[in-house]
Amino acid sequence: MDLGITNKVALVTGGSMGIGGATASLLAQEGARVAITARRASELEKAAERLRSETGAEVLPVPADCTKEAEVKALVTRVVEHYGHIDILVNSIGAAKAGSFLKLSEEDWQQSLALKLMGQIRVAREVYPHMEKQRWGRIVNVIGTHAVLAEAHAMPAGVANAGLLNFTKALAELGGPNGVLVNGVSPGTVRTARLEYLMSQGVEYDLDRITLRRFAEAHEIANAIVFLASERASYICGSVLTVDGGQLKTI
Ligand SMILES: NC(=O)c1ccc[n+]([C@@H]2O[C@H](COP(=O)([O-])OP(=O)(O)OC[C@H]3O[C@@H](n4cnc5c(N)ncnc54)[C@H](OP(=O)(O)O)[C@@H]3O)[C@@H](O)[C@H]2O)c1
Repeated sequence: MDLGITNKVALVTGGSMGIGGATASLLAQEGARVAITARRASELEKAAERLRSETGAEVLPVPADCTKEAEVKALVTRVVEHYGHIDILVNSIGAAKAGSFLKLSEEDWQQSLALKLMGQIRVAREVYPHMEKQRWGRIVNVIGTHAVLAEAHAMPAGVANAGLLNFTKALAELGGPNGVLVNGVSPGTVRTARLEYLMSQGVEYDLDRITLRRFAEAHEIANAIVFLASERASYICGSVLTVDGGQLKTI
């Protein structure tokens, strides 16, 4: 199936590694021109070089901290200056703190919400007007099953994800009539650096509660994201696709 995204311009936040890295790679393989962002410039440059050599695609790395409004504005300006416009936004930043409720500080909560919830909102707010103007766009927010699966050791992630679920559907209502389709992908448990962090903080995972009896690989989440970011998802608006190997079903 041709996804119809050849030459589309895609911005992937958190694009240096993990789910965002795998998504940037798949978008590039499908012929999109890609911009990737993350804070660490050296990691971002390495990821861009890897993408270029693996796919031959044009890749623009732009370092930015998405908790900072000025850096997000500069990021979007840079991508639009370079490519002329933005067609696709994949929001894959987020590193909410995990741990025991009484040990999580005010700052832990503030940082978690500033990145996972407000980071995705901030980037979407800057990108959306460009898409509305051209009356074509795709925004895919990477959320997480903790949005509906409350867990004591993962409260900031759960609260941020629940907010993103609502934001995704609300922005979809705004964007749909203007040709900007907004959807979400909710991964279960994915083998990335983020999973190692969560496990180190006491979040427990029981493979017996996942129907497929294994964690996801990042590229399996990317497959769903890129489909929703494509021309083929032309009648999908305000949906959140759970990609969790059957985890919720067994709870
Ligand atoms: N892995 C899972 O099991 C899982 C499950 C459900 C949902 N998710 C969600 O999926 C998304 C991606 O997770 P992942 O597992 O792929 O994470 P990851 O492997 O840790 O990658 C996170 C990416 O975000 C970037 N980043 C972190 N803080 C940033 C900031 N302030 N500004 C800009 N970029 C920043 C990182 O680069 P720098 O550090 O260089 O900035 C990196 O590129 C997150 O929203 C996460 O909550 C993950």
